[in-house]
Amino acid sequence: MRTVYVNGEYLPETEAKISIFDRGFLMADGVYEVTSVLDGKLLDFDGHYARLERSLKELDMANPVTRDELLEIHRELVAKNEIVDGMVYLQVTRGSAGDRDFVFPDPEKVPPTLVLFTQSKPGLADAPAAKTGWKVISIEDQRWARRDIKTVQLLYPSMGKMMAKAAGVDDAWLVEDGFVTEGTSNNAYIVKGGTIVTRPTSSDILHGITRAAVLRFAKEAQMTIEERLFTIDEAKEADEAFITSASAFVMPVVEVDGVALGDGKPGPVAKRLREIYLEESMKVAI
Ligand code: PDD
Repeated sequence: MRTVYVNGEYLPETEAKISIFDRGFLMADGVYEVTSVLDGKLLDFDGHYARLERSLKELDMANPVTRDELLEIHRELVAKNEIVDGMVYLQVTRGSAGDRDFVFPDPEKVPPTLVLFTQSKPGLADAPAAKTGWKVISIEDQRWARRDIKTVQLLYPSMGKMMAKAAGVDDAWLVEDGFVTEGTSNNAYIVKGGTIVTRPTSSDILHGITRAAVLRFAKEAQMTIEERLFTIDEAKEADEAFITSASAFVMPVVEVDGVALGDGKPGPVAKRLREIYLEESMKVAI
């Protein structure tokens, strides 16, 4: 049985409890992070902590942990659950005021709720899907407008995943005003003539920690990057495409709305970036 963390305590997962009045439950008033574990080490921990601080600040939510405390909790959970490869999920909510009210409770009186748990994914870095690539469909982006904040409001992304599943593909790319924003739970890229194209960061998309690292590594490898909007039609004509996220790393995309990209196999840029990302991130994993 998993050991999880709830507000200062390590407990068996069946004993961990949260109030029914918790604002995370009633109002999706919470933020989260997902950090990958490879070979028992955390990837991009500091990037995830920095984004957590930012999400909390944007929502005027108190931060219950320092960077060092959070690192310690992550490490304890990885050790207690004997995680070699997998993920650590973290969630902070505005806590429970003991009733339902739209008004935020006084943070002096109501502490935030902090929950963490692990997910074991043996062989995460060698996911078979990376060899064949993902197929995606496009759907309308119907999320709220502050996608730069990593909130637990994941109903529409979840519905998008179901639409993808119903269409027999792996994921959905969200489209707003004719342009791709991102995937249901990842950032989206196309490659044309060797140039990597991805949407610039704004409140329209989540500022992916993997995105930042991959773009940095791509620049270091002298690859050309254009941060600009792109359409689904442009994606269908691309040589290749890929997505990035903490749990999928760099995942090739081989089909968009039923149209195969290039030869329909993972492209060289995506393959190379996946290798570089895994290699370089592992060097500095903690
Ligand atoms: N998802 N865009 C969205 C909408 C996301 O939910 C995510 C992450 C990303 C990629 O961000 P990062 O590289 O920091 O993981 C982009 C996580 C993995 C999830 O919800 O499981």
